[in-house]
Amino acid sequence: MTRLIVLLVVAACSSPTPEPIATREQLLDPEECASCHPNQYIEWSGSMHAYAAEDPLFIALNKRGQRETNGALGDFCVKCHAPMAVRMGLTTDGLNLDSIESKLKGVTCYFCHTAAEVNGTHNNPIELSDDDVMLGRYSDPVASGFHKAGASDLLDGRALQSGDMCGSCHDIVLDNGVHIERTYAEWKNSLFNAPVEEGGQTCANCHMKPSPGAIADFDGAKENRVNHDHRMHGVDVAVTEWPQKAAQLAGIAEDLYVSVDPQLCVNPGAGGVELDVTLKNVFAGHRIPSGSGFERRMWLEIVAKDSDGNVVFSSGVVGEQQSVKDAAATDSQLWQIRDFARKSDGSEAHFFWEVATVEDRLLPEPVDPTIPHALTRRFINVGNPATVSMIVHIRQVPLELLDDLIASGDLDPALKANYPTQTLTATELNWSMLDNGLGCICRQGDC
Ligand code: HEC
Ligand code: HEC
Ligand code: HEC
Ligand code: HEC
Ligand code: HEC
Repeated sequence: MTRLIVLLVVAACSSPTPEPIATREQLLDPEECASCHPNQYIEWSGSMHAYAAEDPLFIALNKRGQRETNGALGDFCVKCHAPMAVRMGLTTDGLNLDSIESKLKGVTCYFCHTAAEVNGTHNNPIELSDDDVMLGRYSDPVASGFHKAGASDLLDGRALQSGDMCGSCHDIVLDNGVHIERTYAEWKNSLFNAPVEEGGQTCANCHMKPSPGAIADFDGAKENRVNHDHRMHGVDVAVTEWPQKAAQLAGIAEDLYVSVDPQLCVNPGAGGVELDVTLKNVFAGHRIPSGSGFERRMWLEIVAKDSDGNVVFSSGVVGEQQSVKDAAATDSQLWQIRDFARKSDGSEAHFFWEVATVEDRLLPEPVDPTIPHALTRRFINVGNPATVSMIVHIRQVPLELLDDLIASGDLDPALKANYPTQTLTATELNWSMLDNGLGCICRQGDC
């Protein structure tokens, strides 16, 4: 009798695993993943990947762009911001995003986890498989009965190829050849583009922090696995009601706020002392800011006072609702760390489709340990201050861009106040003649 049971059990185990039951329709829907992969789902749901085609600024810009180019923009924007909807033929220009189900918008689980090939370096050249196998790092997945699973280097942060998967969407070349977003090219040029065993770091290494434990809330899931944070935060925050805002902000504070290391030197110079401020990229595998660098507004605030507390010099003191552009009009030394995009007539461009040239004034990526990945700016005519304080701020988009879209009726005016000014807290330095004297100070005091 016992022998019979053993035989029956053995027979059951060696019979082929039943075909997974999930339909394509189910696999396309991130909500379907939540029961077994709650961490990945919750983190992703608050991410900019989930927000990419719900973002009112995206919708407004795409609408305006289609109008101003008479439709020539086509699927240029939506092929990255709603890639599944484009590939399923549900939209050709993004003007009908309202009528498309949320599960097919944004950069979804299905899009990344069925990436089969990367056939280029920019503008989302990713080819998807057609077999519905959910790809990850494990070649021995536990059968879930729900979906097929398998391994691919494109979905394994330990493999350099995973950088190609992320990177080919994080690099934009316009039709006129202008390389407007260069995160992938910057990473490829950096020290980090090396095998992980040799000290390299892929996008996933930095942007998807690991935590050990089962990767599925499922009986029989293996314990000796690693989960990866799917928040994938950078700079942007959602400006409408959106899940997981606090978790996104916490992530941004953890990475962005400490990514730049400051140095302030106070030396005798023209018109009293002169100030040399150095900002160093200490933590990013690309430039800072990166990506839509021409839309970023990152700047230095620096204030020098005399011993009575009167301001003797200041630059970069920008009001809460004041644009950096407006502040720069009366502050010729204002240091902006960003891309400067221009139209063919040389005036500043803030729409992708107007850009003719782009000038890069970003903090460089680490390329070689002997080349400083920093920028220095000298401020003169400072007078003879008793104290000098500095700090760096960033806005995800320029306020004048929002004003322009509000004026054209493309953006809800109420949203403007929801765009935060974020502060890179680690860049705060406070110098005083009394405590420090002439010379340089760094984050850890003297340097
Ligand atoms: C019924 C539970 C269940 C559901 C629902 C589910 N999964 Fe899974 N998934 C699993 C199990 C079990 C594993 C394997 C765990 C292991 O090997 O330890 C897994 C593994 C994975 C892997 C890793 C594959 C590898 O080999 O590295 C990915 C990626 C994945 N699932 C994505 C998804 C996505 C996307 C969805 C939603 C469309 C989803 N899963 C829905 C149970 C589920
Ligand atoms: C932007 C691309 C991207 C999106 C979107 C994405 N993932 Fe992932 N996911 C990855 C990468 C890359 C890894 C592998 C990281 C590694 O192993 O180094 C991963 C790993 C996983 C794993 C294996 C366990 C782990 O955490 O490493 C599961 C399960 C998973 N993802 C599920 C999901 C689900 C469910 C969604 C949607 C709710 C989703 N992913 C959305 C890129 C993505
Ligand atoms: C299908 C194209 C696509 C792929 C593949 C992709 N991304 Fe993204 N990613 C986007 C888009 C689009 C956004 C911006 C959405 C928005 O802000 O509206 C974004 C946003 C981000 C952000 C937040 C940027 C910010 O400033 O807040 C980070 C970080 C990020 N992605 C990292 C990754 C990593 C790491 C991978 C690979 C594991 C990856 N992405 C793969 C398209 C992609
Ligand atoms: C060595 C760690 C590291 C690596 C490697 C890395 N990043 Fe980042 N990334 C960061 C840090 C830190 C920030 C925050 C500072 C900043 O905004 O640049 C960031 C910010 C970003 C942002 C927002 C940039 C901005 O300023 O708007 C995007 C998008 C992004 N990363 C994507 C990627 C992609 C794609 C890759 C791979 C091609 C990658 N990262 C590789 C650390 C890294
Ligand atoms: C090759 C893929 C790709 C294309 C094409 C693309 N984007 Fe993006 N977009 C991204 C990525 C990646 C990010 C996140 C990078 C970052 O935060 O710096 C992003 C971020 C954004 C953001 C949020 C950040 C910000 O500056 O507010 C908006 C809005 C946006 N894109 C609009 C557009 C519009 C409009 C178009 C078409 C004119 C477009 N994108 C074309 C990949 C793409």
